[in-house]
Amino acid sequence: MSEIVVLGSLNADLVVSVERAPLGGETIAGSGFAVRSGGKGANQAFAAAKLGGSVAMLGRVGDDDYGRILSQGLAEVGVDTRMVRVLNGISTGVAVITVEASGENRIVVVPGSNGAYSMAELERDADSFAEAKVALFQLETPMETVVGGLKLARESRCITVLDPAPAQRLSRDVLSLVDYVTPNLGELALLSGYELGDESSEAEIVEAARVLLELGAGKVLAKLGGRGAVLVEPRRVERDYAVQVETVDSTGAGDCFNGSFAAAISKGMPELEAMQFACSAASVSVTRAGAQSGVPSLEEVLAFMGR
Ligand SMILES: Nc1ncnc2c1ncn2[C@@H]1O[C@H](COP(=O)(O)OP(=O)(O)OP(=O)(O)O)[C@@H](O)[C@H]1O
Ligand SMILES: [Mg+2]
Repeated sequence: MSEIVVLGSLNADLVVSVERAPLGGETIAGSGFAVRSGGKGANQAFAAAKLGGSVAMLGRVGDDDYGRILSQGLAEVGVDTRMVRVLNGISTGVAVITVEASGENRIVVVPGSNGAYSMAELERDADSFAEAKVALFQLETPMETVVGGLKLARESRCITVLDPAPAQRLSRDVLSLVDYVTPNLGELALLSGYELGDESSEAEIVEAARVLLELGAGKVLAKLGGRGAVLVEPRRVERDYAVQVETVDSTGAGDCFNGSFAAAISKGMPELEAMQFACSAASVSVTRAGAQSGVPSLEEVLAFMGR
């Protein structure tokens, strides 16, 4: 039985490089193509396992090559993929991404099998939470399944961590099942109703986080990009400032953060150290290309922290 359970999405990211995006009815030549393993759930499971966690992934893929590649990629870092079950008659989740020379992205996400991970499907995996210590969730699978998973995790006394991404408003019913909610700045703004931006002061960010505490979340662990992260509890605020790094690709930095935080707390690391560990892992990940391929090894994170 695994110490960490990740319930979430697996996506194949089909990345097309173009000088500029085509107009309606227009055909243009692209300059490159890559298939990358993604999906917030898979990215978090990958990071947690690579950083030493014992991880089981709960998710759904279609009976196609992308599903097999995604599942195999997780298995290669030691993730238990027996609950990455194959659904027939539906495609694996994909994100079709055009990246223009200017850096502008256009993304179409097809949930596919992720969207078919229903409550009935979750019942097949319900035992997975029994022995787990930490359970990770995001919002790329149906909300009823996320809520069902949170309840199962709570019944098994797991520490529950919810990444509220892609951004979506959440009710008290959902947030009151969450020990750590981990929004980035945009998600924190949407959830709290505060207007926040890169120029927002820490006091404003903490005030917005307190709205989520009032809505029932146990603690707010907000991810602030190049500014690091802040942990907000009813009577305490702790922060970790990011070390300046050269950004190559910040895709999946937030997922690396959540996965490494889970790996750390599952090993009994105190929460503040786990936050520093997660910040360090995520900071190293932005210096490398790719969401999963950017995740550093444990040795690399410890070396970065020792600097
Ligand atoms: N430019 C940076 N320099 C150093 N660390 C960074 C930088 N960008 C991100 N990080 C680290 O990564 C963490 C998560 O990044 P961010 O706040 O951008 O999350 P996110 O928006 O959820 O990311 P994602 O787009 O992957 O979901 C930060 O808390 C920080 O520790
Ligand atoms: Mg994120």
